[in-house]
Amino acid sequence: MKIYICEICGDAYIGSEKPANCPFCGARSNFIKDGAEAKPIVNEKIEISEESRKNLLETLDLEIDANAIYLCMAGKAKEYMIKAMYKRLAKVEFEHATIVTKLLGMDAPKAKELPCPDSDAENFEKTIALEDHAAALYREFVKKSAEKNIRIFFTALSQVEEEHKQLISEIA
Ligand SMILES: [Fe+2]
Ligand SMILES: [Fe+2]
Repeated sequence: MKIYICEICGDAYIGSEKPANCPFCGARSNFIKDGAEAKPIVNEKIEISEESRKNLLETLDLEIDANAIYLCMAGKAKEYMIKAMYKRLAKVEFEHATIVTKLLGMDAPKAKELPCPDSDAENFEKTIALEDHAAALYREFVKKSAEKNIRIFFTALSQVEEEHKQLISEIA
């Protein structure tokens, strides 16, 4: 067994091989390093510009909303696989919110409750729209970030949300 650490969320994964994606924040394997070599962005205290601060706060709201919506969708799903998938997506989005609060030196995020449609079909459609919006927004934020670590963060997140969109497109 080995210890791997995600350089985006800073969480450790213990296993015999590096996972294809971080099980906690969903970052791709290129962001996951051998434990001794990893330098998680959440551990580095950096000066954050006003522009990046504004973009990170918008990200925080979006991720907290996504967490709430996916938990609602998990509650309405009839099939266990869909329920479990939405629970996982909710946890991943909450992890994204947590990373933002660490980057900004804020208190841990608080979850909220939001409504969602009743059918899987409507929920899949809404999920694809949410993930598409998030992926595009984070790609824009990469271009607007002056700080290297913030660019790395938004690059990783834009890929995660894009992969969520692909996942739902395939099962819908
Ligand atoms: Fe991670
Ligand atoms: Fe997210």
